Amino acid sequence: MLLLPYQPIYDNTWLVLSVTTFLVVVTVIARAYRSRSRNGLPLPPSPPNWRLMGHFLPLRHPFLTVAEWIDECGPVISIRAGTEKVVIIGRYKAAVGIMEKQGGALADRPPMNSGQMITGGLAIGLARIGDRWRRMRKAVHTHLQPKAAEAYQPLQMSFAKNTVLDILNDPSNFQSHVLSYAVTTVLKVAYGKDTPTSAADPEVRAIHQYMTVFRTVLQPGAYWVDTIPWLRYLPWYGRKLNSEFEVSRKVYFGQMNRLKQQLQSNVDAGPSFGRYVLEDEHRLGLSELEAHYLPGTFFAAGSHSTAAAICTVLMAAACFPKEQAKVRAELDAVVGRHRAPIFADQQSLPLLHAFISEALRWRPVSPNGFPHRTTQDENYCIPAGTTVLGSNWAISKDPEVYPDPDVFKPQRWMNDQGELRDDITFFVYGFGRRVCPGIHLANRSVWINSVLLFWAFQLTLDHTKPLNDMGFMGLVSPHVSCPIVFTPRVPDMELRHVMHRYPEVDSE
Ligand code: HEM
Repeated sequence: MLLLPYQPIYDNTWLVLSVTTFLVVVTVIARAYRSRSRNGLPLPPSPPNWRLMGHFLPLRHPFLTVAEWIDECGPVISIRAGTEKVVIIGRYKAAVGIMEKQGGALADRPPMNSGQMITGGLAIGLARIGDRWRRMRKAVHTHLQPKAAEAYQPLQMSFAKNTVLDILNDPSNFQSHVLSYAVTTVLKVAYGKDTPTSAADPEVRAIHQYMTVFRTVLQPGAYWVDTIPWLRYLPWYGRKLNSEFEVSRKVYFGQMNRLKQQLQSNVDAGPSFGRYVLEDEHRLGLSELEAHYLPGTFFAAGSHSTAAAICTVLMAAACFPKEQAKVRAELDAVVGRHRAPIFADQQSLPLLHAFISEALRWRPVSPNGFPHRTTQDENYCIPAGTTVLGSNWAISKDPEVYPDPDVFKPQRWMNDQGELRDDITFFVYGFGRRVCPGIHLANRSVWINSVLLFWAFQLTLDHTKPLNDMGFMGLVSPHVSCPIVFTPRVPDMELRHVMHRYPEVDSE
């Protein structure tokens, strides 16, 4: 056995080391427990906590714990994740006052080591505020802003027609059909891919797995490396985070290489965001790596989320048949049964709009919210450099703005004249300057699928099977138990006939 030579420390080194370590630990703990900001104002109240590592949030449904804290402590609370203070906003007025009205001071993201590891520092979603983020956001905006999103309507209609036909042929796998719709749409916009992509495609599964890990990264205190940064350099630490980054890189670069080959061999690749960044890489000020990674964020951020939102609306329809019947009556009056609804009908169907808003409040797709970071001291005694989370779940339960918050009430979105209210909203797509840039594309996807499926089918629940009514909060998975029965409202042959002609004839 190899014996290491014993080297006694004769001087005061041990003492100095011990005292220094003690002082560092005390300072860090004192900073973490500090209940006042630098300007002397008290920080938002904290739920009781005695854990050294900070407040405990369960990995499963952490938003339920947050909502309990908000009920107990008030609309804005502060918790500790390791040595970091995290402020959580759980009521509507505070969300508007802080996250929306002072959005400029909250546009940053916290410097998460776990986030850096899983994205290689390349993702727009976790980019710190600064020139790099602005360049990426500007590039993304050109392809997702309202006018651009309007131009995608014809393709959304023709892909949504496939959702109807797929459900008609195979209703029990509706989640997979909805996911195929969402992925096919996003890959067309991102890379100009014309062929449908199935939910069972290995790349779709890989991105689902990637996003599952990504979501845990967003949760305060989920990874030790966010408190102890040097863990990142240990070879055995964070293998999963590193390997998930490799998976995403491989998928995104594979898609871009396919597009490049098409462009090089003069195949008609059509317009796409990927083509735009390839052709304008230098003008956009993006590095080659960034240009290759950026379209991939459409795939990751825009496919399972869109599918989850559509599935949430379908689940709400099956769970609340009386409310569904009111929307069907509106559809029958406005559209009738002999033609299928199109985007031009949108303004005439306010009840459907209200139903969708209520479904996405009832079961928010992003219940935990995304972490923001303050760059200035906030009125609410939130010092600069604090991580701030808008808890969508807690906000959705705010009784002041949404009376009887647990009741499914689409009418809350309408005024006495039967028009949509413009004085309330819900933060489905996040907050302030970091609000989801895919909002216009996603809203149209949710609307066109909902309207066509409500028009084509009556949705009921099979009460003999279990229902997981929280299953779509996050990402869609075909394994969520949601036993919806789809009964065609139009005779089978006629439905197929109308759908096969859709949207070309009906949209004229
Ligand atoms: C129903 C579907 C969707 C939902 C519920 C959703 C939700 C969100 C939320 C909550 C955020 C974080 C906002 C914040 O920080 O406050 C976000 C960010 C983002 N989303 Fe979406 N999203 C959806 C669809 C899409 C689509 C279709 C795309 C692209 C094609 C997309 C691209 C992005 C990107 C790039 C970001 C990061 C923006 C940034 O950090 O600057 N999303 N989304």
